Amino acid sequence: MARRMIILAAGQGKRMRSHLPKVLHHVGGKPLISHIVQLALLISAERPIVIYGHEGEKIKAALSTYPIEWVEQKMQKGTADAVQKALPFLQAEDEILILYADVPLISLDTINALISTTPKNGLGLITAILEDPMGYGRIKRDAANNVIGIIEENDASAEEKKIREINSGIYWTTAADLKKWLPHITNDNAQQEFYLTDILKLAVRDDVAIHTVQPRIAEELLGINDCLQLSQAERFYQKTTAQKFMHQGVTILDPNRLDIRGEVTIGKEVVIDVNVILSGKVVIGDRCYIGPHTFLKDATLAEGVAIKAFSHIEGAVIGAHAEIGPYARIRPGTTLAEEVHIGNFVEIKKSEIQKKTKINHLSYVGDAFVGEEVNIGAGTITCNYDGANKHQTVIGNHVHIGSDTQLVAPIKVGDNATIAAGSTLIHDVPENGLVLTHKLDMRVHKEWVRPKKQAEKK
Ligand code: UD1
Ligand code: CA
Repeated sequence: MARRMIILAAGQGKRMRSHLPKVLHHVGGKPLISHIVQLALLISAERPIVIYGHEGEKIKAALSTYPIEWVEQKMQKGTADAVQKALPFLQAEDEILILYADVPLISLDTINALISTTPKNGLGLITAILEDPMGYGRIKRDAANNVIGIIEENDASAEEKKIREINSGIYWTTAADLKKWLPHITNDNAQQEFYLTDILKLAVRDDVAIHTVQPRIAEELLGINDCLQLSQAERFYQKTTAQKFMHQGVTILDPNRLDIRGEVTIGKEVVIDVNVILSGKVVIGDRCYIGPHTFLKDATLAEGVAIKAFSHIEGAVIGAHAEIGPYARIRPGTTLAEEVHIGNFVEIKKSEIQKKTKINHLSYVGDAFVGEEVNIGAGTITCNYDGANKHQTVIGNHVHIGSDTQLVAPIKVGDNATIAAGSTLIHDVPENGLVLTHKLDMRVHKEWVRPKKQAEKK
């Protein structure tokens, strides 16, 4: 006996009005279907069965790193038809969880409650009472409160539409029952689809115990059919993700103004100011400060790093106690060592900067290696591109570079060298050298009279 997960993902998602298959739209920076595949893999070691159809190749490509049993549903004839496609892959004694790729935020706790409380060989389903149940299937109960069926919005009478208990679409059942029930389901309904919800009637007929479970927070069951629901799911995901980090001790100044779009790890005593976006794989070490209006993507910050306001950091590794910004841009392939200072309007690309080096104002450093305790003056530029190729700049330890210096790469500046302000370096500089490339020629005219603007001729 095995636990098998069936994930329905074949629908086109017409209501999204997008060429992208619905289940590849993102919540929290990853496709809807990835949330559900990751959940399935937490519940069972067996490969989840994903029913795909519309734009299947794109979906397969997006999930290529997961172990999945792919089953095609060529024509989307309804949710019961979709599950039927999985039957040949199931053993009669298997226990089955049916999940929907467009209901991506259901929690592991709720699924565990469903599995542990449904009687053996019973049919378990997750329901919720909603203020506004519009669009969902409604749960029908008899006078004794037993579930007797599910009626879809499109087939419901005015009276049935008033029912506020909705169907999540998630069921815990057995392969034996599915094999028995699915062939009996017809498409005799408003949408002419084979509805999986009809298994409820068959369970009642067969005296199978029907058990319902409700999530702690109803929003877990949000079904995503259009862009409005996508945005509601995104907000719910962000709220719960921020709550998780606050419970871990992260200070988030306004959880409504933090967006986490990826796999993020945050250490102890971290403070995150407002309007921050963390994207991709981000690791934030202990005691870091993330200033307001900052964007971090695929970045690793060691402990005690301060990112000041309006900084943009992508594809970088930042050493302990480094200070960055305000208004700094750190681009992919950059490694900053401990206690490096990067100031305002500085761009660093694909460079390694050794410890305690300061690049504080208005500079571009690209394709460079910069040693320890170097000071790079304002307006310094590595001229790394000759119009066809990129070239390296290597700057030794303890170098001082005056303001407004251009280093024409490929070039090497030896340890402890000093470059006077306004220099254009076109040759390597030896250790301990001094470079002056500018003409020290400054003329002063005393009592200079500025030209006057001439009156316009009429
Ligand atoms: C479905 C349920 C409804 C429930 C709601 C919860 C049915 C008939 N209705 O309605 O009771 O309240 O979900 O969100 O089951 N799919 C396929 N193949 C198909 C049709 C659909 O794989 O032929 C997939 C879709 O990609 C989607 C899921 O099944 O992931 C649900 O289909 P959808 O058309 O969105 O059903 P709803 O109208 O939302
Ligand atoms: Ca749906």
